[in-house]
Amino acid sequence: MKVTIVGAGAVGASCAEYIAIKNFASEVVLLDIKEGYAEGKAMDLMQCASLNAFDTKIKGTTNDYSKTDNSNICVITSGIPRKPGMTREELIGINAGIVKTVSKNLVKFSPETILIVVSNPMDTMTYLTHKVTGLPKNRIIGMGGALDSARFKYRLAEAIDAPISDVDGMVIGGHSDSGMVPLISHATRNSIKISEFISKERLEQVKQDTKVGGATLTKLLGTSAWYAPGAAVSGLVQAIACNQKKVFPCSVLLEGEYGLNNLCIGVPVMLGSNGIEKIIDIKLTEADKAHLKSSADGVKKTNGLLKI
Ligand code: 2OP
Repeated sequence: MKVTIVGAGAVGASCAEYIAIKNFASEVVLLDIKEGYAEGKAMDLMQCASLNAFDTKIKGTTNDYSKTDNSNICVITSGIPRKPGMTREELIGINAGIVKTVSKNLVKFSPETILIVVSNPMDTMTYLTHKVTGLPKNRIIGMGGALDSARFKYRLAEAIDAPISDVDGMVIGGHSDSGMVPLISHATRNSIKISEFISKERLEQVKQDTKVGGATLTKLLGTSAWYAPGAAVSGLVQAIACNQKKVFPCSVLLEGEYGLNNLCIGVPVMLGSNGIEKIIDIKLTEADKAHLKSSADGVKKTNGLLKI
């Protein structure tokens, strides 16, 4: 199993680290345009191998896509991250050009690959990747929902003072502050509805904190987060690489599911060796349906800024 990660910045390197630690891939190639940077990150990570007991070989390259040939899975993290006060949508101008070039280069050397898009604005970059590569929809996956759901579970566990493993919850919709739809009515603590443990008002606070999860960290760190994004990507990569058939919310091209068409947005999907094995069309409350619809309108508006 060969995995390529484009962008050796904090998110890309964190993806490589978590994938290696989970020890299911034979090879991880890190590619970056900055001379020597990916090689340095790869070497530093490889010096953890004996300490962290993994056998994955991590290799770095400065922009040589031939080194990524025949990758089973490619992850695109390249582009600029947001700075405090910025929205993900504001990154479109620079990141669209980068994602276009990167995805074309990846598919040239790995025509059978599955692509995971992390660059922001993620739903629009996933849609752009469809347009420029023409790959079938099961092979293009946007990472956002897995991360947003992890942040939702963190906030839920904190609010009810429970261990995180007791809590389950999912965030669908666009990967943006206004677009995220935390599914409160589906959230549970060990199969018991979360509303049994917490007031309506506190749940509303959890919902708001989840939606600005990325922005809160950007303000604290001065740049966008990397540990949880990296861990979320590694979960998706492992589900595909090990054909786990796990369910995650991911940004996928919708063709009628949830009454939506011609955009990529976060909905629950099953991941296995074919990438997206199935889109799961769950029943939503009227309020969540309306929120998803306005989230989709927002994503479409951002897609409209693309010059494809
Ligand atoms: C975040 O929410 C990287 O968009 C990403 O942290």
